[in-house]
Amino acid sequence: MMNNMLDIEGLSVGYARKGLALEEVSLSVPKGRIVALLGANGAGKTTLIRAVSGLLDLHHGHIDSGKINLDGQSILGLPSHRLVRMGMGQVPEGRLVFKQLTVEDNLKVGAAILPRSQVADRMDAVYTLFPRLLERKNSAAGWLSGGEQQMLALGRALVGSPRLLLVDELSLGLAPLIVKSIYEQLRVVGDTLGTSMLIVEQNAKLALEFASSAYILNSGRIVLSGSAQEIAASGAVKESYLGGKQEAAAGQEKS
Ligand SMILES: Nc1ncnc2c1ncn2[C@@H]1O[C@H](COP(=O)(O)OP(=O)(O)O)[C@@H](O)[C@H]1O
Ligand SMILES: [Mg+2]
Repeated sequence: MMNNMLDIEGLSVGYARKGLALEEVSLSVPKGRIVALLGANGAGKTTLIRAVSGLLDLHHGHIDSGKINLDGQSILGLPSHRLVRMGMGQVPEGRLVFKQLTVEDNLKVGAAILPRSQVADRMDAVYTLFPRLLERKNSAAGWLSGGEQQMLALGRALVGSPRLLLVDELSLGLAPLIVKSIYEQLRVVGDTLGTSMLIVEQNAKLALEFASSAYILNSGRIVLSGSAQEIAASGAVKESYLGGKQEAAAGQEKS
């Protein structure tokens, strides 16, 4: 659809020596909106992100059937590096910053797709968004706290001015206050640049505060979708995903 930055239709994905990990999944990210993708461990969230970001091959996965469109254009089968140039910012599970490189150099990697004349301005914009990164710009990324590494992973994806930002497990292992401030900054990005975002979360409660809509995956299928308000109010979701388990798990790591 015209007003969607991302449209997934009837997507089925399998891995070698395993049945389907996603079955007939349909999902849309409207332009300029934040969409949350929720679900328990093993539900297929990362698989969906891999399919969209062209990383299935790397994990011996394949698309069985379905469509994936970025701003109305099919991106099925395109490799990750091309998708990045088409405006897809990717923050993979585990963040995967370059630990030996400085903060500044990590951001430069992300900025490599930009015309030279834009690099300095975009780097400044990321430092304005996450002032902690400016303070630590000469530190090796491996020395940063978990929260700072997530900011760096986001900064590296955002420095190239993506139209669509994909984030896998935004809050995993981070203290709730840090996560909240990261979401607040992402909201600023959405409001000022109109960036569309698909965010995988285990902390459903927090994600639903910031997202406009949400999808719940269970064993490879979408079992519920709707506005964030509807999902937050749904009894089933409250019991399964808004309980205390994630809250207790969060905040283990100093940030
Ligand atoms: N590289 C892989 N090879 C085979 N099976 C995989 C691979 N990656 C994930 N899976 C399986 O696919 C299913 C969905 O996993 P995943 O997408 O990682 O879920 P989530 O991110 O929601 O925890 C799980 O059953 C998982 O074991
Ligand atoms: Mg995952």
